[in-house]
Amino acid sequence: MALNHAHSRVLVTGASGTTGSRLARQLAAQGVAVTAANRSGVGPRGTLGVRFDWYDISTHPGALAGAERMYLIPPSRDPDPQAVMVPFLEQAREAGVRRAVLLSNSAIPSGGPGTGAVHQAIAAMFDEWAVLRPSWFMQNVTGNHMHAQSIRTSATITTATGNGRVGFVDAYDIARVAVEALLSPTPLNTDLILTGPEALSYDDVAAILTDVSGSTITHVHVSVADLRALYETAGLPSASAQFLAALDNAIASGIEDRTTDTVERVTGVSPRSFREFAAAEFRI
Ligand SMILES: NC(=O)c1ccc[n+]([C@@H]2O[C@H](COP(=O)([O-])OP(=O)(O)OC[C@H]3O[C@@H](n4cnc5c(N)ncnc54)[C@H](OP(=O)(O)O)[C@@H]3O)[C@@H](O)[C@H]2O)c1
Repeated sequence: MALNHAHSRVLVTGASGTTGSRLARQLAAQGVAVTAANRSGVGPRGTLGVRFDWYDISTHPGALAGAERMYLIPPSRDPDPQAVMVPFLEQAREAGVRRAVLLSNSAIPSGGPGTGAVHQAIAAMFDEWAVLRPSWFMQNVTGNHMHAQSIRTSATITTATGNGRVGFVDAYDIARVAVEALLSPTPLNTDLILTGPEALSYDDVAAILTDVSGSTITHVHVSVADLRALYETAGLPSASAQFLAALDNAIASGIEDRTTDTVERVTGVSPRSFREFAAAEFRI
């Protein structure tokens, strides 16, 4: 898709996170002016790092300065992100932002809980918008996700997903779609379910990780109730533990057993497979 990004500054929130860091780097590599916002105020090379905290409104005008487009990562683990995000959306519109791209997830439709309310608000408030609804990230087995941590500590992944399958997607591919959603001459004005090229069970994931690393990784099957108890023991608030365990239950029921052609349709390049990702990025 041809890009027309002359004179556009893009605000990337969550710019130190899994998708935001990749997006900020991809935009900067294309010569786009990027404001990289997070609580530390440090952005990737080639971007303008600004300190930004969803809960500190004194940091909001600085993040919005000069921005015409923005990528929004909701505040982490906030069960009601609309409370801080909708006033920010209003302020952004007044400050001259004309295009908003939200990262939500495949399990939550417009009007649903959490980011579902922000999804609905963005579509109503902006003439130019997109909501990215990725399936589970491949990077959950690297980085700081609890699966990555349990792989490092005990070579296990514990889920209540049974044999349910998930269309795991690479955060790099999510960022590539976000570039298009932010810069395409014609706004997408829709939500996009993003998956990788195949749906895999966690048994499949463990087998691929074992294969590429040479170390045995085991998928430990537990019940939804046991998973919830495990999360609570690990210190998660009860509501979050219940929500995450319910997501595993939904996967077990087959709800995430799907793939879409959206990454290739939007970017012109097919998404990376889990095996390709693991060979390139998984280390134990
Ligand atoms: N993991 C998955 O499988 C999956 C699948 C679908 C959707 N998602 C969605 O992806 C989102 C997370 O995106 P991500 O993985 O790209 O990010 P991430 O790696 O979780 O990082 C969160 C980012 O937000 C920033 N942040 C956290 N609290 C903040 C605050 N109070 N104010 C301002 N910035 C704050 C963090 O930077 P600082 O800490 O430096 O401020 C960091 O840059 C979640 O909403 C999740 O629902 C995840």
